[in-house]
Amino acid sequence: MKNTVKNIISAKGNTKLTMLTAYDALFASLADEAGADIILVGDSLGNTVLGYKSTVPVTMEDMLHHSAAVVRGVEKAFVVADIPFAIAHKKFDVLLDASARLVQEAGVDAVKIEGGKKMAKKISKLSEAGIAVMAHIGLEPQQVMKLGGYRKFGKTDEEKQTMLDDAKALEEAGAFSLVMEMTDPDLAAEITREISIPTIGIGSGPSCDGQVLVCADVLGFTQNPPKFVKKYADLRSQTLEAYAQFIGDVKLSNFPPSK
Ligand code: KIV
Repeated sequence: MKNTVKNIISAKGNTKLTMLTAYDALFASLADEAGADIILVGDSLGNTVLGYKSTVPVTMEDMLHHSAAVVRGVEKAFVVADIPFAIAHKKFDVLLDASARLVQEAGVDAVKIEGGKKMAKKISKLSEAGIAVMAHIGLEPQQVMKLGGYRKFGKTDEEKQTMLDDAKALEEAGAFSLVMEMTDPDLAAEITREISIPTIGIGSGPSCDGQVLVCADVLGFTQNPPKFVKKYADLRSQTLEAYAQFIGDVKLSNFPPSK
């Protein structure tokens, strides 16, 4: 049976949630078959498969195209798509239109929006319109140009208080879950205790209600993954080896075999 917002919310305190990114039907179907609760069509699409240096260049058209492919590959997992760069900061109608297109045209189950309490009003209005929203605080990769790089969040007292206030405001606005990226583990634990919606961590320690990783990192395709990543396979080496064998076989006329 297909996972729903209800299943995801009720997982809190009962079972850890698992979320993996996917950008096409092939890898989405594998994550789904393996039992991932949620598949995220992250805008990490940009740096993972589109060859960009960050998530910033990813467009709505990119997200629609890849989200629709992911939806075609999934039977059970709940599918969430990122709202790409800057759109959530435009007028509400622009955000509503982008969210509605991802739900209606691509068929995703929910959208994810980066940003703290400044996003709360818009998230509340999306929720009123019937759109499920996953919030995202801590490191917000769409802010990379302003930040000048990626770093840990929630270490100072001021940042701790801001993030705690953000989490509560996003919960109150109707977000059904909260991603915390590169967040101090003690703060991630405190936020997880303080709010009733599930938290999903990435580089934020073990106390979140669930964990998310980027598929290319989990599978060992990424050459220099972040330190917090656990590599569960080494598909980069295996792929290079397989491709080299195919190329060698063809060059030597070993493939296809002669009769
Ligand atoms: O785009 C993405 O893959 C994400 C995850 C890192 C949470 O937002």
